[in-house]
Amino acid sequence: MTRSQNLAPEGDWVQEGWTHLSGLVDTDLPGWSRVGFSEQDVAGRDWVAQQMRQAGLTTRVDAVGNVIGMLEGTNPSAPAIVVGSHSDTVPGGGRFDGIVGVLGAIEVARTLRRAGIRPTHSLMVVDFANEEGNPQGVKLVGSRAAAGTLSATELAAADSEGTTLADLITGAGHQPDAVAGCRWKADDLAAYVELHIEQGPVMEEQGAEIGVVTRVCGISTFVLDIEGRRDHAGTTSMTKRSDPLCCAADGILAVQRIAAAGGDSVGTVGELTSASPLTNVIPETARLTGEFRSPELAGLKQLQAEFDAEAKVADSRHRTRSTVTWGHTDAPAIMDEQLSALAVRAASAAGHEAFRLYSGATHDSVEMSALAPSTMIFVPSRDGRSHCPEEWTDLADVERGIEVLTRTVLEADAA
Ligand code: GLV
Ligand code: MN
Ligand code: MN
Ligand code: MN
Repeated sequence: MTRSQNLAPEGDWVQEGWTHLSGLVDTDLPGWSRVGFSEQDVAGRDWVAQQMRQAGLTTRVDAVGNVIGMLEGTNPSAPAIVVGSHSDTVPGGGRFDGIVGVLGAIEVARTLRRAGIRPTHSLMVVDFANEEGNPQGVKLVGSRAAAGTLSATELAAADSEGTTLADLITGAGHQPDAVAGCRWKADDLAAYVELHIEQGPVMEEQGAEIGVVTRVCGISTFVLDIEGRRDHAGTTSMTKRSDPLCCAADGILAVQRIAAAGGDSVGTVGELTSASPLTNVIPETARLTGEFRSPELAGLKQLQAEFDAEAKVADSRHRTRSTVTWGHTDAPAIMDEQLSALAVRAASAAGHEAFRLYSGATHDSVEMSALAPSTMIFVPSRDGRSHCPEEWTDLADVERGIEVLTRTVLEADAA
């Protein structure tokens, strides 16, 4: 591979791809919504599988819905190089988060074909199922199934209507009972490389065209269940009531205060629900969901301990009884230095200076990094906006990212 070799992607195909996918959205929801395991998501992933086949990949769908395309290398017994991302979106999301990485991964296979290159290692192209998570509270569903970290408890996790994650997966035509068979063996994998939009403002602020990620945030999610006492809102004095919503309000502000004190840490509340919507009733219970993120596992544990302590303080203030239940913790994932160095070299071969950065957004690479040396290539997000309809990345930036992805795959193939 030389700098002069034409490894530029076909930008028109990529743009047509995201335009097509942005037509497969739930029009009852705002933005560009293709929520994991929905009708639109199934249609989107069928289309992705079709594109993989047309790119010459042998394509299959596993028991959780991961779409996997293989281009056999000249040495089929060599471990595979995996490229991919996800094509589901958050409700009210954008057109680029995950999608750029899936289209980019397929375009790597298309570019190799155009250039007449057959790699030594097999190339595995993946559209992971439901990276964004669900009301059942489980993120990275497909990559966790592939990494073997999706537990039976999580498959049984239910939303407020009693629908479990297993029900969702079944509803999309897949087989949650066979999830064990989705697991990949580390020995079969040489590397994982994911192209993604930055989703934050740093690259734009720095004037960086290509990012190579150092590490991806760790995440701890929680549910705060609060018990108070159901009472009449007019006759229960302010000093005698036990109001779970007031405790929840303290909980929300505690999330903000604790996270703001911790460097790169962030904390966010998802949903606040109460047992009564009426203003003339003090509800008996309330529930708050949220998450903390940190670049360090120790930082995450510290945030958890502080929130546990704050919940007790809020209980004593409001005469409530709270339980904090911590969900699955994703430890921060450190990207592989050697593979990242290859990505930096690939960027340089394409004429770009790579900018190294931390990702406060989570990715399938977190799960993949437990199986194989992993890295991520970032392209800028306009105004740093993401998980919103305004999410945008210029085609020229996407093209740059795909070329660097292709070159990184070839560097890894030669390493
Ligand atoms: C996914 O985009 C996340 O960071 O939660
Ligand atoms: Mn994403
Ligand atoms: Mn996302
Ligand atoms: Mn009354």
